[in-house]
Amino acid sequence: SFMESHSGMRKKERKLAELLNIEHCLIIPGDSDKEIKVLEHFGSVLTDVLGSQLPNGDNVIAVMGGTTMETVAKNMQELETPRRHNLFVPARGGVGETINIQANSISGMMAEKTGGDFKVLYVPEQVSHETYEILLQEPTVQRVLHLIEKANCVVHSIGQALRMAKRRGMAAEELSMLKNKNAVAESFGYFFNEDGDVVYKIPRIGLQLKDLKHIPYVVAVAGGKHKAKAIQAYIKNAPAQTWLLTDEGAANQILKGE
Ligand code: F6P
Repeated sequence: SFMESHSGMRKKERKLAELLNIEHCLIIPGDSDKEIKVLEHFGSVLTDVLGSQLPNGDNVIAVMGGTTMETVAKNMQELETPRRHNLFVPARGGVGETINIQANSISGMMAEKTGGDFKVLYVPEQVSHETYEILLQEPTVQRVLHLIEKANCVVHSIGQALRMAKRRGMAAEELSMLKNKNAVAESFGYFFNEDGDVVYKIPRIGLQLKDLKHIPYVVAVAGGKHKAKAIQAYIKNAPAQTWLLTDEGAANQILKGE
């Protein structure tokens, strides 16, 4: 029955949270590797989590990019209340993703779906170091960077290291460097080994990994059996307040390897 499977899932969530050593973990039925509707479901779950956790007043929510975040964003719902306002900003400058899955696009989509506002970080990906330095002096860029510094919430995904490196067009030498360093997970443009240690970082402006510790609301959204190892590795050193939203595909695989 529904009630049984519901309580079974709560039990599994507690088991997974214990294994990963985190406080909050939610598991959505199904495997997002196989069914897009599982990823879509993450959108309403994320809306519920933010709706129940975020304080009243003005929130600044920094978001990352990726295909998970894209589907999640498209499936979010109204989050504004008379007492709570949300402003979405990209967490970091571009890490080499195509336009529809860039953090700027995701933050715009989330604002549209939830009734909040958003700001764009106008820093293109492929510019010379000199141009980049000049752009950073621009008041519009500076203003958004200040907002990112004020973020009280971060939403991001987690990916497989090599898959992400390839998608972002990293050079062959960088790929073999990542292999040599046993990188298994990626998030925020940082690469992690199985122990959750950073082995490489794409230098970008905006939110840095060390800033995450000081942000009260951090949500990691990642599912699919193929991401099990990456999730487990990343979570090892993730800030303690991180909520993990995942699915049965990833959760069962992690619990199996315990
Ligand atoms: O680049 C942003 C990001 O959210 C990373 O943190 C993560 O590794 C990646 O995207 C995940 O991408 P996808 O959701 O497409 O697997």
